[in-house]
Amino acid sequence: MAYDKLYADWKADPEAFWMNAAQQVDWMTPPTRALDATNAPIYEWFSDGMTNTCWNAVDRHVEAGRGAQLAIIHDSPVTRTKHAITYEELRNRVASLAGALRAKGVEKGDRVLIYMPMVPEALEAMLACARLGAVHSVVFGGFAANELAVRIDDCKPKAIIAASCGVEPSRVIHYKPLLDGALEMAAHKPDFCVIFQREQEVAKLIEGRDVSWHGFQYGVDPAECVPVPGNHPAYILYTSGTTGAPKGVVRHTGGQLVALNWTMKNIYDVGAGDVFWAASDVGWVVGHSYICYGPLIAGCTTVVFEGKPVGTPDAGTFWRVIQEHKVKSFFTAPTALRAIKRDDPQAKLVADYNLSSLKALFLAGERADPDTIKWAQAALGIPVIDHWWQTETGWAIAANPLGIEKLPVKIGSPSVPMPGYDVQVLDEGGHPAPAGTLGAITVKLPLPPGTLPTLWNAEDRFRKAYLTTYPGYYETGDAGYIDEDGYLYIMARTDDVINVAGHRLSTGAMEEVLAGHPDVAECAVIGIADALKGQSPLGLLCLNSDSGRVEADVIAECVKLMRESIGPVADFKRAVVVNRLPKTRSGKILRATIVKIADNEPFKMPATIEDPDVLEEIRKVLTESGIYPT
Ligand code: COA
Ligand code: AMP
Repeated sequence: MAYDKLYADWKADPEAFWMNAAQQVDWMTPPTRALDATNAPIYEWFSDGMTNTCWNAVDRHVEAGRGAQLAIIHDSPVTRTKHAITYEELRNRVASLAGALRAKGVEKGDRVLIYMPMVPEALEAMLACARLGAVHSVVFGGFAANELAVRIDDCKPKAIIAASCGVEPSRVIHYKPLLDGALEMAAHKPDFCVIFQREQEVAKLIEGRDVSWHGFQYGVDPAECVPVPGNHPAYILYTSGTTGAPKGVVRHTGGQLVALNWTMKNIYDVGAGDVFWAASDVGWVVGHSYICYGPLIAGCTTVVFEGKPVGTPDAGTFWRVIQEHKVKSFFTAPTALRAIKRDDPQAKLVADYNLSSLKALFLAGERADPDTIKWAQAALGIPVIDHWWQTETGWAIAANPLGIEKLPVKIGSPSVPMPGYDVQVLDEGGHPAPAGTLGAITVKLPLPPGTLPTLWNAEDRFRKAYLTTYPGYYETGDAGYIDEDGYLYIMARTDDVINVAGHRLSTGAMEEVLAGHPDVAECAVIGIADALKGQSPLGLLCLNSDSGRVEADVIAECVKLMRESIGPVADFKRAVVVNRLPKTRSGKILRATIVKIADNEPFKMPATIEDPDVLEEIRKVLTESGIYPT
């Protein structure tokens, strides 16, 4: 079997495996070795090679004679526009933007924060940073000004590149006022902001600080690609952790190039000239790896889709885009399919389109429920591939590697570990759990190229969060098991992270916001099952005894506060007031037990519970509020 052989080859000689993969990308100075274990358990890859991501993603395709091929297709049902950019145009646009950034002082190693919706200019901004060796940090548009400010203060950007607005089906998102608000809150001030004016809303520029995207490129010399070491940070991407402070996941240049290039052929089975579409957002890791870098490094055409699976204008939008742009490989989140299935349960709209170009559908970002997989299989008649990964890893830990061999699909499993990942399920004592037994999913160190080497300016936090519980292993934060055939099953998170509509959120961060409300004495946020979004946050609030407020008013204020503090992406719309929260005798809130009650699932009474009666009180409140059973 091709997969078994490849995986065994990697395991027998990881160094040779990755050095071989590294030959598929261009280096100004090729690396002499793959792994640098000098500072183990902190590992780096290709540290002594010199390369440039933008060269590999753009220029080399032009040099190879494919300058006229489409690099980016922007399909935007929310603005009713479509636009395509060839590789040669992309090279010229990115070189000009990079030249303008350089002229204003941006250099190798400087951070640049990017706050843009799904427009090609977002990719151009990322690539322009890569061209200069600047380190970008893209922030998702659904976050509030406060979250943006936290990220600005953490990565201290020299420049910010933002769009004037984003367009959601129901409203225009005022990016510029959000940015201005964030900069008022942040202690760190960038040297300048570049504003890409969209015609849906032109923003007012602040003199002396803001420059316009087009204006500041006037008359500048285009920039060439700056060689950087393989272990030079390519980007920082913030993701939710246990506390309110987001984790700045760092990605290194060489590892990302080699790993993403490897995945395009071996996992997604696409190559130069093929059309690849990941319906995600540049603000998430999927957007980094598979809207921007992966497809471009492989010389594919990437689709930048600014719309929703439903309502823009209907549940046939995905199928239209696939037909129109001849998409070969498509990647989305299960929640998007559930939204389509809800509007078009019989998948009748599929028949309106010619989907003959489409060879496979990939799902990730959250657990793919069997009903959704079966619905997609029946509707499309192509392989539906669940694969499992995280912001931290940047590419799939487990998948069904179509480009190597299509393994039998087991519904409910994202299939098998990819070369580079020695996945082990460990019990509480840190020993390997037998097949079929639930435990913590870990990866034996070192992690492969393209995964996180550390957290930005927070190596201690990196060690504590990922490397300490099981020495010698990376702790994924997911629990699950491996079956007798080596297939993985991802069952739950072991921490306070929840997954709402494929968006990773921290209940700890939400609790910090609720605790800031003057009438809230104590609170808990849990993720309860949601038929569309997978999980949905629910707040449980204990009010100050002297509060005297109408409960519904406090709840409405908490919902508003969450939207203002974290943003609409938190999707926090429901809360209940309770007298007490269930706790252990040592004072730990029993969140997992509350989830079981809310989801109407059987549970074992925790032996350490302080007062079992609280659970009945909670059940009663949830029943009366109409939330229980979900
Ligand atoms: N900028 C600003 N606001 C945004 C936003 C963005 N980029 N993306 C979402 N929001 C807002 C939405 O407008 C919504 O606001 P509202 O509360 O005022 O309605 C809120 O954030 C929640 O959005 P969402 O969770 O997306 O819910 P929805 O009801 O608008 O759409 C789905 C439901 C299932 C159609 C949608 O969640 C979806 O397409 N999910 C797929 C997600 C995905 O691909 N994730 C990538 C991971 S791989
Ligand atoms: P993110 O970092 O936002 O990509 O979220 C990563 C988390 O999403 C993982 O740790 C899992 O909890 C969950 N996840 C992602 N893909 C899958 C999948 N295919 N199956 C189950 N859970 C998944």
